[in-house]
Amino acid sequence: MSSSSDPPIVCSLPRVTIIGAGRVGSTLAQRIAEKNLADVVLLDILEGMPQGLALDLTEARGIELHNRQIIGTNNYIDTSGSQIVVITAGIPRKPGMSRDDLLKTNAKIVVEAAKNAIAHSPNAIFIVVTNPLDVMTYLAWQATGLPRDRIMGMAGVLDSARFETFIALELRVLPADVKAMVLGSHGDLMVPLSRYATVNGIPVTELLDAATIERLVERTRNGGAEIVELMQTGGAFFAPASATSVMVESILLNQSRLLPVAVYLEGEYGLTDVVIGVPCRLGCGGIESVLELNLTDEETEALHTSAESVRQNIKRSQEILATIIKA
Ligand code: NAI
Repeated sequence: MSSSSDPPIVCSLPRVTIIGAGRVGSTLAQRIAEKNLADVVLLDILEGMPQGLALDLTEARGIELHNRQIIGTNNYIDTSGSQIVVITAGIPRKPGMSRDDLLKTNAKIVVEAAKNAIAHSPNAIFIVVTNPLDVMTYLAWQATGLPRDRIMGMAGVLDSARFETFIALELRVLPADVKAMVLGSHGDLMVPLSRYATVNGIPVTELLDAATIERLVERTRNGGAEIVELMQTGGAFFAPASATSVMVESILLNQSRLLPVAVYLEGEYGLTDVVIGVPCRLGCGGIESVLELNLTDEETEALHTSAESVRQNIKRSQEILATIIKA
């Protein structure tokens, strides 16, 4: 029994803030709540929209059998004390646009969102989803001043899931039995590591010929564009939300999963001062370690080409931001 001199019992449930309550953000809110991982704060600039989505998700709680709170807001005060902040705010691709075409609009949005969010949740771990992913993660890292273990981008988990799906469809096996890893930037220069792909431990190179693997690699590289072309009204959001929820889960439940994550590199793979996707162990402290694989010369070259293109876009984004500040 407690006495009046005992400190009050504080019931502190984990809270995840999602900035940008669009298709990726709202689907992620649903995934997090339905997996019972955390309470969710959905923030958007559109008035009423995140509040309406939060109410809709709240009304599903009894049916989906979870009791997580979902709050919709336009005010960063409501995000205070979040353990994780996910940034999905920005515009998605339209048909014919590359992720880099989004640079100008999304750079400003992501920098503002990161600064506002860190001011209210100084201990949070940040996951950036907005495209172009690697550049936006770099800008958010700069804007927050966070150490690299607490800020990362989501792309590799999605790209790997796409590669695994195409392998599973080709071999007509259960997708969950296929494991693959895609490194590099989130774009045409991503680096799917075919020789590490397996079906329950059997290398895919034993099961498929080189030409077929190359076709699946190419489809993975164009995975996002294929969906944009089909939909004509925006990009993928179900699988991106699932991929992000896996990262949120590994952090909140301290699962230490080894996942491809976009991270600021400090010499690993011979790369510095750039954000790019490499295997990382994700736990309650964020990025607990960066794994350096023994890549072949060809894979290393592909990773470096990928990093160089990110570097050029970081430079472009900084010029754009400098013009905006001056204006
Ligand atoms: P969406 O258009 O459905 O949602 C974006 C939301 O951001 C909108 O509700 C908009 O009002 C909001 N927003 C815009 N400016 C804001 C600001 N300053 N503060 C708060 N909210 C703001 O777009 P969708 O499909 O949800 O995609 C979001 C982003 O995620 C895009 O940049 C897209 O390219 C990217 N993406 C990245 C993936 C990855 O693998 N990293 C995969 C899928 C999408």
